[in-house]
Amino acid sequence: MKGGLAWRPFLAAPFDILDRAAPPVAQKSRLEDGKKIFVKSFGCQMNVYDSQRMSDVAAGEGYSPTAEIEEADLVVLNTCHIREKASEKIFSELGKTRELKERRAQAGRKTQIVVAGCVAQAEGAEIIRRQPAVDLVVGPQNYHRLPQLLRQAEAQPVVDTDFPVHSKFDHLPAAAPAATRARGVTAFVTVQEGCDKFCSFCVVPYTRGAEFSRPVAQILAEIDSLAAAGVREITLIGQNVNAYHGLAEDGGACDLAALLERVAARPGVARVRYTTSHPTDMSPSLIDAHRDNPALSPYLHLPAQSGSNRVLAAMNRRHTAEDYLAVVAALRAARPDIALSSDFIVGFPGESEAEFEETLALTEKIGFASSFSFKYSPRPGTPGAEMADQIDEATKARRLARLQDALEEQRQAFNRGMVGRVLSVLIEKIGRYPGQLVGRSPYMQSVLAEGAPELIGELADIEILSVGPHSLRGRIIDATG
Ligand code: 5AD
Ligand code: SF4
Repeated sequence: MKGGLAWRPFLAAPFDILDRAAPPVAQKSRLEDGKKIFVKSFGCQMNVYDSQRMSDVAAGEGYSPTAEIEEADLVVLNTCHIREKASEKIFSELGKTRELKERRAQAGRKTQIVVAGCVAQAEGAEIIRRQPAVDLVVGPQNYHRLPQLLRQAEAQPVVDTDFPVHSKFDHLPAAAPAATRARGVTAFVTVQEGCDKFCSFCVVPYTRGAEFSRPVAQILAEIDSLAAAGVREITLIGQNVNAYHGLAEDGGACDLAALLERVAARPGVARVRYTTSHPTDMSPSLIDAHRDNPALSPYLHLPAQSGSNRVLAAMNRRHTAEDYLAVVAALRAARPDIALSSDFIVGFPGESEAEFEETLALTEKIGFASSFSFKYSPRPGTPGAEMADQIDEATKARRLARLQDALEEQRQAFNRGMVGRVLSVLIEKIGRYPGQLVGRSPYMQSVLAEGAPELIGELADIEILSVGPHSLRGRIIDATG
């Protein structure tokens, strides 16, 4: 699988033109009802979650979501800064959005353009300098202030990339049940945000800030309202989710293993996952959770980044290849059917051919079910960008192609191993053909089977009969929910 996941990026805006005298709390809108919001999300799952929360905030202001950008009064681009390509993509998107704004203006319709997410946090006012059609640049910690910011932006462009003292989670509204139902039977819930690890290639600690864990009660309340609207699978997300240490109701601390147990016990919740994890934070309690928590999917995204100890040290990963293998061995001892996915970076500064081979060797030792792999992209302000021995593009491209071939072979081998197995599949929606249902296996594979639409939202035991390039096919042998 090619690179698709992504978090984060960086640097405070050179100046902040937000008028801080404005009232901090959203007031009821002057905006008319019947307006439409279009949100496009780039990058990681946290941006998907954040995009939904921004839609929920806008709903309180009378905006309903649309999938047609042409009819949107409010266009939000929720951006990713993790690699240069992701980040630059936003400026070509903005060019198209400006044309849309002009077209709509000619028809007498106003359009506000918002740039949110990690590019917003990293570039701030520079975005408005490069694309003056932008009305508002808002960093990830300030989405709860959207109504007020949009009103200010009616007068002049606004940039808000502040890291506020109070958590946005205390102010973001819950999704309306109808909005949750429209989003399906699976949901992401942010439980942790930010990162204190400072891997030398990564902008996240700068764009998403220091680690913050949401309190348990707040998370459970959100999950209860999702479950009440029909959500059956919850993925707890965080840039460094397994470092989660939230405040429990009794004032004590709660780690991720305990949180997963609490979440799995909520009425309606059938399956739980968590992502993304750091190998050094795979605590014994979390490894035990894979043995003891039956609702926890036997599938873990655990980025290794490299198989070379010298490169891992230069990346400031704080673990060796052996440490990584030991964590995987412990996980497999706890849960023999667990499968792994990973992220890899090729062409980190100074990476030799032999060191790259060590990465290939690590993947062969593990046999990943799925992986994301990337060419190293030097990001401004990170230590990696300043390192000598930057690797040329052609070498990076060659290494990436070799790695992706190996990872694709492993993915296919893993999928082939599904034939004859009975998997617990969460039925998500109806398929393209009459009578067909589409669901997800514990390993995030798409599974097709015949069945009644009433099974949507149920866990079904499905015997896998064949494997295609992008999905598995099977037959339902039991659907008990
Ligand atoms: N260049 C290439 N890939 C990167 N990632 C993070 N920063 C960079 C970078 N500068 C990758 C890592 C991370 C994933 C989300 O993106 O593999 O795990
Ligand atoms: Fe970035 Fe490393 Fe933190 Fe992951 S653990 S978000 S790669 S700094």
